[in-house]
Amino acid sequence: MSEPKRYTITAALPYANGPLHIGHLAGAYIAADIYARYLRLQGKDVIFVCGSDEHGAAITIKAKKENTTPKEIVDKYHSIIKKSFEDFGISFDIYHRTTEPIHYETSQDFFRVLNDKNAFEIIESEQYFDEEAKQFLADRYIIGTCPKCANENAYGDQCEKCGSSLNPTDLINPRSTLTNSKPVLKSTKHWFLKLDEQQKGIEDWFDKTSKENNWKAHVVGQCKSWLNDGLRPRAMTRDLNWGIPVPPEIAGAEGKVLYVWLDAPIGYISATKQLFLEKANQQNIFSYNERSFENATKDDWKKYWQDDETQLIHFIGKDNIVFHCITFPAILKATEQYILPTNVPANEFMNLEGDKISTSRNWAVWLHEYLEDFPGREDELRYTLIANMPENRDSEFTWQDFQNRVNSELGNNLGNFVKRVSDLLHKFYDGVVPEFK
Ligand code: 2FM
Ligand code: ZN
Repeated sequence: MSEPKRYTITAALPYANGPLHIGHLAGAYIAADIYARYLRLQGKDVIFVCGSDEHGAAITIKAKKENTTPKEIVDKYHSIIKKSFEDFGISFDIYHRTTEPIHYETSQDFFRVLNDKNAFEIIESEQYFDEEAKQFLADRYIIGTCPKCANENAYGDQCEKCGSSLNPTDLINPRSTLTNSKPVLKSTKHWFLKLDEQQKGIEDWFDKTSKENNWKAHVVGQCKSWLNDGLRPRAMTRDLNWGIPVPPEIAGAEGKVLYVWLDAPIGYISATKQLFLEKANQQNIFSYNERSFENATKDDWKKYWQDDETQLIHFIGKDNIVFHCITFPAILKATEQYILPTNVPANEFMNLEGDKISTSRNWAVWLHEYLEDFPGREDELRYTLIANMPENRDSEFTWQDFQNRVNSELGNNLGNFVKRVSDLLHKFYDGVVPEFK
């Protein structure tokens, strides 16, 4: 394969519904950062983009819990998350957000193009509706008894006790988490991406690209299992009052918003557009990157998304594989304007002291709290997470391992090495590093 002209590196947009923990860094961001830095050191043309994912039920549920509005939630957590990334040296060229107007425009334009290309079909179905709250219920707003293990608090999309993936109508005794009332089934229509019609195209692209670029075995395994099951149409709209409205000229879609998994990955593209708007205007935006982007124009984003000589690489955690390896490529492909990813090097999960990291159970090492206990010790944590990265299987963070690695690998081994080099330098070269000949 010939040398690519440029690289577009993305890291999964974290939901702005809570602070970051070590699992986030180990799962996607440190690996992406290392790769971006490695390419930059070689003088390659690379952009590294990310931002906060600010729509979907993850946000509205958190707002309800904190008794506030979704907007306040995303504003609060966007700044906390952005600061943690800065503190830990994740060298994005831009850290954007999906509530910015440029993202609304970009996402709605995607919807228009997909609609014009006949990529959707409208399907009417019955969904749970809360008559007291007067709204349709997203899967996570419905709880009930799991038909498989009798857990009384299973969600409409998944039982967290036995891990079964569910539909809301599978639940026994469903109730709304908004009002605790019994929801009723009501008919509604949604715009479904015709993934079934794209089966062959996606399969051909996937087989070729994953082989040529040596994709990780666990990523290939998950994708193959989805593809072998046969792709089915997937709803790209939702009845929610928090999200990007379906473009107003689309008849019959009043009050509907884009599914968060449609708008989130488009966030990589709107972040790139914003990056070049700012670079073209010479604004000083957040960047650790030495790169100057001289003579940038606002249309340069297209080179990073629409030129075959660009390599697109998505860094994500394993829970995002299907969206980045099947759904988003299908969306990009259907537009007939965009390149598809070259690789999706998903990591597995990092556990903490023998247990799964969990935000709801507050079982995590939060990055902002780590820095309160260990101010100025960002590199020690980065090192431990890198040394123990869950690249091909789940890994484990323990404080004992952290202490051993810092004391013995960094303190003793690296410290000793630096001390010996420095002693030799003083002994033979008057403390000045000689020129390399
Ligand atoms: O799982 C998550 O945290 C999602 N917010 C990831 C989105 S990645 C991308 F599509 F933006
Ligand atoms: Zn269950």
